Amino acid sequence: MPGTRTAIPADLVDLPVGALCALIGPPGSGKSTYAARYPDSWRVCLDVYRRFATDSEAEQSATPVAAEIQNLLLDARLSRALPVLVDSTNVFPHVRASLLARARYWQRPAIAVPFDLPLATVEAQNADRDRVVPLHIVREHHQLLPDADQLYREGFTAVHTISELLATSAASHR
Ligand SMILES: Nc1ncnc2c1ncn2[C@@H]1O[C@H](COP(=O)(O)OP(=O)(O)O)[C@@H](O)[C@H]1O
Ligand SMILES: [Mg+2]
Repeated sequence: MPGTRTAIPADLVDLPVGALCALIGPPGSGKSTYAARYPDSWRVCLDVYRRFATDSEAEQSATPVAAEIQNLLLDARLSRALPVLVDSTNVFPHVRASLLARARYWQRPAIAVPFDLPLATVEAQNADRDRVVPLHIVREHHQLLPDADQLYREGFTAVHTISELLATSAASHR
């Protein structure tokens, strides 16, 4: 039912009713592992929709269609005041601006969760990922991670920085 609160583990960010939560971090920083600890219907993920469209989550030509699917789901959930977790890198300001515009349109809070982990940790986790992303992309995305001040300036209502590895769940994730 729209607006219903769901109990989530105590060490996770508690999302206000109807919040849009942008996970922000390079490939391998642990976004999908983190998202897997929330109810699975809360997550939108470009990798998943690229795979649905092409059988490959890496197929960048499918990013426009994946973004359309994501936007439909964002609107469907935000309009009902249901929380939504955006599980993509979100390291580019124009991508975050588009998410913020949707949250603003529906008058919902926008929460940022940047994954600020050492590059060595991210590189090691990327090597252990379902799909290993080329190192130069991991490094470029790691450098682009915005700090909390920037995220507040962009319009996020709260910023919760993840700066150490959290417990994981047994739930599968991609
Ligand atoms: N908190 C954590 N503790 C231990 N391993 C983790 C943790 N978070 C992620 N990992 C591991 O790191 C790898 C990348 O995590 P993933 O969630 O897929 O990252 P992303 O979605 O940001 O690319 C996976 O193999 C995952 O099991
Ligand atoms: Mg992921």
